[in-house]
Amino acid sequence: MKKVKVELGSYSYDIRIGSGLLSRIGLWLKERDLSDKAVIITDTIVEGLYAEALERSLANAGFDVTILEVPSGEEQKSLETAGRLYDDLTEAYTERTNPVLALGGGVIGDLAGFVAATYMRGVPLVQVPTTLLAQVDSSIGGKTALDHGQLKNMIGLFYQPIMVVADIDTLRTLPEIELTNGLAEVIKSAVIRNRNLFNFLDINMNKARELHPSVMETIVLETARIKAEIVEKDEKETDLRRILNYGHTIGHAIETVSNFELKHGQAVAIGMVAAAKISSRVGVLDEGEVVKLENIIEKAGLPTEMPDLDKEAVMEAMQHDKKVLQDRIRFVLLRSIGDAFISDEVDPALVEEVLVGWG
Ligand SMILES: NC(=O)c1ccc[n+]([C@@H]2O[C@H](COP(=O)([O-])OP(=O)(O)OC[C@H]3O[C@@H](n4cnc5c(N)ncnc54)[C@H](O)[C@@H]3O)[C@@H](O)[C@H]2O)c1
Repeated sequence: MKKVKVELGSYSYDIRIGSGLLSRIGLWLKERDLSDKAVIITDTIVEGLYAEALERSLANAGFDVTILEVPSGEEQKSLETAGRLYDDLTEAYTERTNPVLALGGGVIGDLAGFVAATYMRGVPLVQVPTTLLAQVDSSIGGKTALDHGQLKNMIGLFYQPIMVVADIDTLRTLPEIELTNGLAEVIKSAVIRNRNLFNFLDINMNKARELHPSVMETIVLETARIKAEIVEKDEKETDLRRILNYGHTIGHAIETVSNFELKHGQAVAIGMVAAAKISSRVGVLDEGEVVKLENIIEKAGLPTEMPDLDKEAVMEAMQHDKKVLQDRIRFVLLRSIGDAFISDEVDPALVEEVLVGWG
């Protein structure tokens, strides 16, 4: 097992990464000053796969366990579902030191995180992420969120877990599309911060797609480290943390204009290529780096070409994005692979030129 420490003063916590970890969570929590009732919040799919193993681990350590289950899917990040969970907690939850465990992907992490942050003004939260995206990204850093109507992540707060446990064995049951979705975030993290990880991915992408255990452990570890380091420096996303949005400005816009036919990871992959092309057009990034990025994205089974979408609609969706400042767009750009920076100076006309002149 490997550990990454997230140093946030009295809110510091460990991310534990490795195989066979679900069965150890009970004992780890037993060492903490927690009372002996535990609540697992999960979704229907993950419940059928991993809730029993986690329940056993907690029960063996002396916890009395309640499992609360919601359907799988983004729609559950709602106040209605949170309300139902509060109702259930009034029965299952007895003391402010009962742990709540979020077992699932990013949806469960955001939803259960929000509920744990707000129930009784905040109760101990353990993130047990089971998708690659959740293991390398959403379970780390304490962002919790619900959607409000069509608006994603509009309601939420920063609330740090007491522990994150990423059992890489759980990735074996992931549908391939969810694995590639997570790989897009892994590539993003390497591209913004760690050229060595980028090179490792370049060599080992096939093994990653086959879920080779030691390769996955390295990938989850190194990517989690990047997220942890950025969160430590900028917990509340005022500055540095924004570089995690690399590829997301155009990515979100094309995801919306495609009517969500493109998955988030696919849209981010295209957004990453677009942001690299823009970096090259403004003269800060060598063209050879753009090609390297395209190659690795292809190896991951992700798209690198702009899909056949209305470019004006993409531009418009981007203007609605919160990252637009007057007539300039805030973009995360690259100086080289492993070195990203934020520019508030990108001219929308140049972005349009790149999109229109592409493919
Ligand atoms: N809080 C943050 O910092 C942050 C960061 C990035 C994304 N997010 C949020 O994360 C969400 C997306 O997360 P996601 O991609 O993990 O999606 P998800 O939670 O919907 O999981 C994807 C699908 O995989 C299933 N699943 C989960 N684990 C599985 C496993 N081990 N085996 C088989 N199936 C499994 C789920 O039931 C679901 O159907 C979005 O709501 C997004 O806003 C949050």
